[in-house]
Amino acid sequence: MRTPVSVLSVVSELYPLIKTGGLADVAGSLPLFLKPEGIKITSLIPGYRPVLAKLPDAETIHHFDDLFGGPARLRRAEVGGLDILFIDAPHLYDRPGTPYTNEEKEDWPDNPIRFAALSAVGAAIGLGEVAAFKPEIVHAHDWQAGLTPAYLHYRAAGRVRPPAIMTVHNLAFQGQYAPELLSTLGLPPEAMGVDGIEYYGGIGFLKAGLQFADRITTVSPKYAEEISTLQGGMGLGGLVRDRIGDVLGILNGIDENVWDPSTDNLIAAKFDRLHIKPRRINKVALQRRVGLREDADVLLFGLVSRLTWQKGIDMVLDALPLILGTGAQVAIIGQGDRAMERAVRDAVTAYPGRIGCVIGYDEELGHLMQAGADALLLPSRFEPCGLTQLYALRYGSIPVVARVGGLSDTVIDANEMARAEGIGTGVQFHPPTVEMLESAALRVASLWRKPALWRRIQRNGMRTDVSWRRSARLYAELYRELAEDGPNAVEALRA
Ligand code: ADP
Ligand code: GLC
Repeated sequence: MRTPVSVLSVVSELYPLIKTGGLADVAGSLPLFLKPEGIKITSLIPGYRPVLAKLPDAETIHHFDDLFGGPARLRRAEVGGLDILFIDAPHLYDRPGTPYTNEEKEDWPDNPIRFAALSAVGAAIGLGEVAAFKPEIVHAHDWQAGLTPAYLHYRAAGRVRPPAIMTVHNLAFQGQYAPELLSTLGLPPEAMGVDGIEYYGGIGFLKAGLQFADRITTVSPKYAEEISTLQGGMGLGGLVRDRIGDVLGILNGIDENVWDPSTDNLIAAKFDRLHIKPRRINKVALQRRVGLREDADVLLFGLVSRLTWQKGIDMVLDALPLILGTGAQVAIIGQGDRAMERAVRDAVTAYPGRIGCVIGYDEELGHLMQAGADALLLPSRFEPCGLTQLYALRYGSIPVVARVGGLSDTVIDANEMARAEGIGTGVQFHPPTVEMLESAALRVASLWRKPALWRRIQRNGMRTDVSWRRSARLYAELYRELAEDGPNAVEALRA
């Protein structure tokens, strides 16, 4: 038996402690599936108020006298098989609101400091400054952890540093800040160059991560291709392109224990691939929860999502007259942009009983949506991976997706040939426009009128392997390769 490779994962959210989206699901499930692959992940997260409340007994393993303006402690806990380190720094994280925004939905003005602190602690641990724990590899996720590889680089000061991986879950969020922050962030003047953390005249957190990480990964092979283009690269495409030999797209998986319709206690009636009928009970329960007319026979489109431009919610609203014209209903659970929330509420007022919504974040309802909706709408303009279509496949809700990013990699369009071969699992459309979404909705409505075919597509989806198994192996290979290279070899490589 090889000794496990020890990895520090630096991340701004992690299910079940704190979640605003798919990043938390990934951070909270991948480590569990890497364990059997011989990889031991320890996750470093900020000690937000809900984290402090859930882990009152966590032991302190290290003190920082001054972490960006106040004292801080590094604390350790184990949660459902996950090894957690969190930064207990009340001046940075102990507040109401979400990890990123205040109660008025505005970004916390000190976000660059809050997430520089996360990154700096990640780097300090990587450099062996915390006696209790030294990982072999440091793995940073998204812009909030983007400075980690930069701190590893600038603070190594003659010491060896561990290899670093930067994973992009969403290139649209880059963490771009004023150049004047440089010294507050504790970075040297020479960092302010194109080969450093400089980004369009300011400081780019994600740019820094992409610049200094030894490897870059993203959450689907298709998104890896997209972000190395001018349009999909959102300003960083050139850098991704320059580093293309170090870029790898690894598809997300799901935690099949949390998302399993045959054991799920958050839904109204359990079911599986061979006993799909109880879905009807879930459908009626869902209709009741979101204020729809209760009818198990009507085609019900569902949507569970952040309400943002990325997710194409506006396209769904524009397509409503046609979708409802087929006799279908629409159920929406989401929160996000104020204007989009208002537009969803207005649609509910305009079509009472035929569109239902819950504006807010409700994990339990997210499960009922997957179990009760017949088809799940995902008209994303871009989608690095997407997890809700994977949950939909597992719960027999047919995903209707724009053919972009991870949606393109995970759903097999039930076109003529796929049907003949018995492999279709959903409906894809392209490009992501209202007209194409409308055509897709019409196609879904016509499939709905053929119950035997519908059931076959549902069963194909429920049979699909959406677990972490394959992808965990790919991450394990990457970690092992970097661990075998070791810190010195990596430094030599970059020199
Ligand atoms: P993203 O991370 O871009 O928001 P993903 O599909 O990767 O998209 O992950 C979204 C996760 O958040 C899923 O677990 C989904 O069920 C959940 N989710 C999103 N919005 C809500 C909501 N309003 N209520 C409950 N769960 C939600
Ligand atoms: C991001 C992406 C989403 C992805 C998730 C987890 O939030 O928008 O597509 O599934 O990260 O990787």
